[in-house]
Amino acid sequence: VVVPEIEFTSTLFPFLVQERLGRCTVRLVPADRIAEAIDANTDVVAFSAVQMSNGELADLDGIAAAAQAHGVTTIVDATQAVGWLPLDATRFDAVACAAYKWLMSPRGTAFMYLRRELLGAIAPVTASWYGGEDVHASYFGPPLRLAESARRLDTSPAWFSWVGTRPALELLGQIGIEAVHAHDLELANRFRAGLGLPAGDSAIVSIDAQDAGARLARAGVMAATRGGRLRTSWHVYNTDEDVDRVLELLGAG
Ligand SMILES: Cc1ncc(COP(=O)(O)O)c(C=O)c1O
Repeated sequence: VVVPEIEFTSTLFPFLVQERLGRCTVRLVPADRIAEAIDANTDVVAFSAVQMSNGELADLDGIAAAAQAHGVTTIVDATQAVGWLPLDATRFDAVACAAYKWLMSPRGTAFMYLRRELLGAIAPVTASWYGGEDVHASYFGPPLRLAESARRLDTSPAWFSWVGTRPALELLGQIGIEAVHAHDLELANRFRAGLGLPAGDSAIVSIDAQDAGARLARAGVMAATRGGRLRTSWHVYNTDEDVDRVLELLGAG
């Protein structure tokens, strides 16, 4: 299993657990070398479409092509991508995302795309009433009667969280992902320009100013410190004024 060496642990650890059980060997490679690391010895590649630590975009085209050439299963964590980065999930085998980041939802909801051909090969080990073909006829007793579709892998829902996810998705759908993408990149690049950095392709801008986190927080600006760097994430609710204010607080305005 090929995984980027800086991969977020919620994507990496499941494979390290399987490695410990003797079921696979995990090969960690630099995030920008995933495509070239895929070879005849690779069964699976698992990676984030956008890295949590620094906002780096995966080479989706290169990885999809290399995986196809070697018959490798592709598993994409799109948690830091879906909501701002247009992403065609059908190019990969499995694409999962938590909704509580760029999809602006409460914690507790998530989505997964799965290529249909893979469904039969996956044991639904978390099967429950909610994975039943007819949910309300699946409360009690045998036989095992799971949905034909990928819903058989679903878990019983965190109800209250979905109440928030629905309007968030409706709003994003109304604005349109292309417009969100353009807006977020414009803000991120305005921020980069203010810091004297070249334009980039990510809505996440990670800079070497970790001591600024507390200063920003005191001014009511929420940014994260990750991997020893200050990480800013620019989204649909932010404005040019927000960017300028952060630049000013960082002494670059
Ligand atoms: C790439 C990625 N995947 C998944 C998650 C969510 O992980 P979890 O649901 O384990 O908190 C995050 C959160 O930071 C993330 O950055």
